[in-house]
Amino acid sequence: PAAPTPTPAPSQPSSVALTQDELKRVAAYKAVEFVESGMVLGLGTGSTAKYAVDRIGELIQQGKLHNIVGIPTSKKTHDQAISLGIPLSDLDTHPVLDLAIDGADEVDPCLNLVKGRGGSLLREKMVEGACRRFVVIVDESKMVKWLGGSGLAMPVEIVPFCWKFTAERLQGLFGEYGCVAKLRTFGENCEPFVTDNANYVVDLYFEKEIRDLKWASDSILRLAGVVEHGMFLDMATTVIVAGELGVTVINK
Ligand code: 5RP
Repeated sequence: PAAPTPTPAPSQPSSVALTQDELKRVAAYKAVEFVESGMVLGLGTGSTAKYAVDRIGELIQQGKLHNIVGIPTSKKTHDQAISLGIPLSDLDTHPVLDLAIDGADEVDPCLNLVKGRGGSLLREKMVEGACRRFVVIVDESKMVKWLGGSGLAMPVEIVPFCWKFTAERLQGLFGEYGCVAKLRTFGENCEPFVTDNANYVVDLYFEKEIRDLKWASDSILRLAGVVEHGMFLDMATTVIVAGELGVTVINK
């Protein structure tokens, strides 16, 4: 994609540094400008997507958006949308969506993504894979040279049955990339994190860049026990990046 120049964030004096949260809100509000009445919308999950869902709810309440149907990507977003009065549906009823708006954990120069550090990658991939336009909203800290390059996790959703076996096989697949696989846990007792689909998440950490992402994706998905991974390859149609210099809209 071409590298457009950023437009200044609205109503912000250039000398005032925005917090990361404010940047997320700026990106989210910009994305909601693409929403039109009558659309079927994929509603993302995470702290950035939350701003977009709030904004959509606000515009519906103000009577500025009508006949919106939302398809949430997690139970959390479902509950948020219900609390805002956004009408909801599902993929069975609406197999093709007009637009989805969601955050990401990493975005590479080809607009490939890592998603799922919030644990909602399966529903996100199902919903966002079914939309005509997928708008990704990030602050500039999410832009990376290569997927996994932030040193943070690449999540893989797996079935709980014999999870150690699956985690070891995942790690083994990427031995030459210095991969370490860790079960995602929470709390003092290190309970396994359980997804909305009653699965576990294994986080993969890489020392070296994997150049052949299609090979990586296919290899992970071939392993029995794997449900889905957090690489979203060639799915984003637009990425909105909010940074100190303003907002950049990158179209695929
Ligand atoms: C959840 C996701 C989120 O979109 C991703 O983790 C980004 O979250 P945030 O906007 O809070 O940084 O993929 O599964």
